[in-house]
Amino acid sequence: MSESNPIKSAVEKVVDTVAHHGHPEKAEIPGVPNSEPPSLEEPVEPREPLAPKPDQTGPDTFSPTGQPTGASQDAMAQGGAFLTSAQGVRLPDTDHSLKAGPRGPVLLQDFHLREKIMHFDHERIPERVVHARGSAAHGVFRSYGTAANITKAAFLAEGVETPVFVRFSTVLGSRGSADTVRDTRGFATKFYTTEGVYDLVGNNIPVFFIQDGIKFPDVIHAGKPHPDREIPQAQSAHDTFWDFVSLHTEATHHTMWNMSDRGIPRSFRMMEGFGVHTFRLVNAEGATTLVKFHWKPKLGVHSLTWEEAQLINGVDPDYHRRDLADAIEAGAYPQWELGVQTFPDTPDQMFEGIDLLDPTKIVPEELAPVQPIGLMELNRNPSNFFAETEQVAFHAGHLVPGIDVTDDPLLAARLFSYLDTQLTRLGGPNFPQIPINRPHAPVNDMLRDGFHQDAVHRGVAPYRPNSLDGGCPFQAGAAEGGYVEVPVEVAGRKVREAPASYADHFSQPRLFWRSMSPVEKEHIIDAYTFELGKCYEQAVKERQLRVLANIDPVLCREVAQGLGLPAPEPTEPPAELAPSPALSQVGREWPTDGRIIGIVADESCDLGVVGAVRTAVLAAGMVPLIIAPKGGMLGTMPVQRTFLTARSVEFDALLLAGAPAPGKDAFGARDAKAGNLLPDGAVDPRVVLMVMEVYRHAKAIGGWGTAARVLTAAGVSEQAPGVIVGEDGEQVLRETIGLLAAHRVWERFPPAA
Ligand code: HEM
Repeated sequence: MSESNPIKSAVEKVVDTVAHHGHPEKAEIPGVPNSEPPSLEEPVEPREPLAPKPDQTGPDTFSPTGQPTGASQDAMAQGGAFLTSAQGVRLPDTDHSLKAGPRGPVLLQDFHLREKIMHFDHERIPERVVHARGSAAHGVFRSYGTAANITKAAFLAEGVETPVFVRFSTVLGSRGSADTVRDTRGFATKFYTTEGVYDLVGNNIPVFFIQDGIKFPDVIHAGKPHPDREIPQAQSAHDTFWDFVSLHTEATHHTMWNMSDRGIPRSFRMMEGFGVHTFRLVNAEGATTLVKFHWKPKLGVHSLTWEEAQLINGVDPDYHRRDLADAIEAGAYPQWELGVQTFPDTPDQMFEGIDLLDPTKIVPEELAPVQPIGLMELNRNPSNFFAETEQVAFHAGHLVPGIDVTDDPLLAARLFSYLDTQLTRLGGPNFPQIPINRPHAPVNDMLRDGFHQDAVHRGVAPYRPNSLDGGCPFQAGAAEGGYVEVPVEVAGRKVREAPASYADHFSQPRLFWRSMSPVEKEHIIDAYTFELGKCYEQAVKERQLRVLANIDPVLCREVAQGLGLPAPEPTEPPAELAPSPALSQVGREWPTDGRIIGIVADESCDLGVVGAVRTAVLAAGMVPLIIAPKGGMLGTMPVQRTFLTARSVEFDALLLAGAPAPGKDAFGARDAKAGNLLPDGAVDPRVVLMVMEVYRHAKAIGGWGTAARVLTAAGVSEQAPGVIVGEDGEQVLRETIGLLAAHRVWERFPPAA
């Protein structure tokens, strides 16, 4: 990196700092439920509650009015060795109701029974209307200071560190739905700045389905399960979704991204994030700049294959949630660089012919490079899902001085919607006082009372002007750090209309399509064919094919062929925009931190080599999972998966330390994956299946010892791309890691002729 470039050298400095900031207590194999292993017998000796696991913390301890309390986080959790009522009264028994005799009626005077059941009856709160399924982590944002010339936001000054809480989510599914469905992912960041809370509430897709927020209920109603049968759950492969988007063609660009590999991320850690709307930054001198925000993951942008995604939804529906928590617990802290594309704040708010107020349009990075302004690292897991991940309340209108909104009509509806929905979801107006939502800046808001008021306000004059409270609180102008809206001119006729520039619905989907590599195009064709193939109504399919015809004739033809329908002609001449290579996910190399390596071994293998490889995987910052015929220990190594419990989709790469014979449970009645036919001298059929799947999903396969026998049984050639067979296990591992850097063995997906 060049010293002469201030942005780059700042990046280097922070990356270096973070790289040397190790976590002393990171877990080798993450995922155990608590900080101490349990005893076999039920513990009977009273003791204080267990400490949380080292990777887990709650929200920072601030008062409901944003003041640091200095209290330990333990003070927010349950304390004391004995069971109590909610009033702190110790209780002798929670297993039996108070009765008139052991076989007699339960007595109404049992206050413990009533309190326990009453509270249980009200444990559920409404799930989010959208983005109900999510997962979150705490972290820190370190500003490079490279945006300090365009914004006065204090947290974007050089070297400032700001605590953050980030929640990732799917959009359509209910709280208990599976993680790896095809959908947009939410990427919401709460910055606890010294000037108040700033929320960047974005998605992993840079455009949206609609240009005006008044259409949000329409697109969501179309995407949610059908109202009569309430199916299908958490997916867009159904008639109402395609009915809507085929009629409402401004959705075409977002839909195209969903049908691309972006709709099925490998991990939250491997997603980009986008603020979507154009925002207006303002500096201390009052000069304004229009910007679009981007989060760039250090691990690169990677996806699952569609078959993997579907298998994972059965094998591990919590796959993304587990991946994030495990990576943090194992010390593989995910990092994203925050960047901005900057545009002059011209009266027309256009850039190179692109309407910056249209949320269905991107500005290609080749036209406006993303300039890094800070680095975020997620390094702590929540200690309680409900208190933190569920109760966090993001809002696109949580702004700090230096960041203002624009007239994007999608954003306008959001500025109303979030507070409004949280009023119901979180049961009253005081949700900013819930610990995870508390600002880290003094709050003096004159808002009073309401359900769940946690603050104990003082004074008698929560109004302005007053003299009885000494005139407090006082208004803050810009000089005192007050939030002063940029005084932009507004004028216009009162109309319900969209500008003419919003009418172009196809040129940017075509730009996206043309920017894809051949294999990414194949995946897009496959996704449209799958989704439309799940629709019942011919008219819906035919109408969507007309939309595809206006994007690209090859895309339209291939999907039409899969659906068994004729390909229509375009109704608009195709736009000839230059492709944007930055949109493709293929063709580069990235770090492999936190990747999962499956190692198949049994007693017949050289366990010394297996141990050395396992240690080398850990040393490379990845997680090795030993897969053996049965649980317990394999030599000195704990077995994390058996042939019964393992499925290929859990691993990023597979290593074979030999050719294990069928395990004792390798028959169809015990494990359907095994099938029923076991020829003499066979390899365990579950291992063969794993290799077949890993091969089909274009993942690296390494082997030593007698591993070649497994490949033969799976019909995989030793010479196939991404298959490494050698004598030296550690050398095989090194080459496998080399392949993993490209995420997949892309040559295994030859495009159609
Ligand atoms: C650029 C377009 C949009 C983006 C990037 C976006 C992003 C998000 C994200 C990330 C969340 C989840 C927040 C969390 O993790 O708690 C969310 C929730 C939500 N969004 Fe949006 N959204 C967009 C458009 C809209 C629009 C137009 C509306 C309504 C007019 C809307 C209404 C909601 C609601 C009601 C929630 C649930 C909030 C809660 O219960 O706390 N969104 N959105």
